[in-house]
Amino acid sequence: MRYHVKSFGCQMNVYDGERMSEMLSGEGMVPAANAVDADLVVLNTCHIREKATEKVYSDIGRLRRADGTRPMIAVAGCVAQAEGKEIARRAKVDVVVGPQAYHRLPQLLKQASEHGLAVDTDMPADSKFASLPSRKRVGASAFLTIQEGCDKFCTYCVVPYTRGAEVSRPFAAILDEARSLVDAGAREITLLGQNVNAWSGTDDVGRSIGLAGLIRALDRLSGLWRIRYTTSHPNNMTDDLIAAHGDVEKLMPFLHLPVQSGNDRVLRAMNRSHGRDDYLRQIERVRQVRPDIAISGDFIVGFPGETEAEFLDTLSLVEAIGYAQAFSFKYSARPGTPAADLGHMVAPDVLDDRLQRLQANLLRDQARFNADSVGRRCEVLLERDGRKPGQLIGKSPWMQSVHVLSDDQIGDIVLVDLTEAGPLSLSGQIVT
Ligand code: SAH
Ligand code: SF4
Ligand code: F3S
Repeated sequence: MRYHVKSFGCQMNVYDGERMSEMLSGEGMVPAANAVDADLVVLNTCHIREKATEKVYSDIGRLRRADGTRPMIAVAGCVAQAEGKEIARRAKVDVVVGPQAYHRLPQLLKQASEHGLAVDTDMPADSKFASLPSRKRVGASAFLTIQEGCDKFCTYCVVPYTRGAEVSRPFAAILDEARSLVDAGAREITLLGQNVNAWSGTDDVGRSIGLAGLIRALDRLSGLWRIRYTTSHPNNMTDDLIAAHGDVEKLMPFLHLPVQSGNDRVLRAMNRSHGRDDYLRQIERVRQVRPDIAISGDFIVGFPGETEAEFLDTLSLVEAIGYAQAFSFKYSARPGTPAADLGHMVAPDVLDDRLQRLQANLLRDQARFNADSVGRRCEVLLERDGRKPGQLIGKSPWMQSVHVLSDDQIGDIVLVDLTEAGPLSLSGQIVT
């Protein structure tokens, strides 16, 4: 049986997709390059915005073949959690499985082929991780989920409902997985969590530690060269974590710290539990210990009731920070979230206009950050082949894509002089 897993969402969703693939391979199935060639298609969905959610339904429709047959279809991910049986009402599928239950996918597939539709959106108390096979094939840069779920309940967001409460994976399980990732060829690990810096645990000598302690433990793992983490919340930037940015060599100078808005009234209405100045202060603190750190963020424009003046506060915050890169979105009302009932929706043309203005500024800053990098000498982790013969693409410490001509291998770290900048990437020359 050939399977194909298609992931639609955030990095954690991609990670879940990898773990499901490994599990299906472990069951003796063979990966297919695309959905058309597959006997089983797993749609690993995202519920964060309306567009992402709707995509699932059009995708299911497209899986029907010319002769009227279709592959077996499993809907996994956050839409599965949020819409459960409704999915089966709207479309013909075989399995619906939530993000905390996908370790049961093989059983559900069996159940579906014997008895028809199988739905599992439980959030079992015992973690799925314990029943997943160990990591075997990974790229130079790998994801590792260390924390899941969210207790913050921002008023616009579905994650606390689709992923459940904040849970930290145990220290030993994380170190084991990190070790197997390194053994499988990973040189960089990105620690994942919806609030990754809210991670807490107990280390091997019984001390209570936070993300910084975990990063320090991973710093001692030989064969691992780079550590990153995402997504962090401004309220969980502890002194210890900030200090780690100053003194842990493997911790890369990059911080993705979403802020959503630069206006205090909007931040309150979003239930972000931090103000504009708190955010600016956190960035200032990291920059003090790591002046070259690249800052990334997330923004939502057009939250219900957002005025032009309030939006301008977001633009001025962007100006003040100088982002190396960022993601920005139009507000999307999500069923079941408090903000969906606020009324005062911002008109669609205003949403478009604000997003466009914000993105123009963010792109300008990204291009500036890249241009300012020209002349720097840095290490680049080679991650994939480029389009031209002999070209490889890797990542700078600051998360920029760097193109080089090289006969080194994917997975190598090379010293590069950054020579040319485009808006979204850089070119460099290997230092010989
Ligand atoms: N846990 C992270 C990210 C959650 S989802 C955090 O706290 O920031 C990723 C991003 O999607 C969010 O940062 C936000 O910018 C965006 N997002 C979430 N819900 C949204 C909604 N209803 N409409 C538009 N964008 C949304
Ligand atoms: Fe969503 Fe807010 Fe939790 Fe991030 S912190 S996942 S935006 S509720
Ligand atoms: Fe989407 Fe779920 Fe991630 S809603 S953003 S896949 S946590």
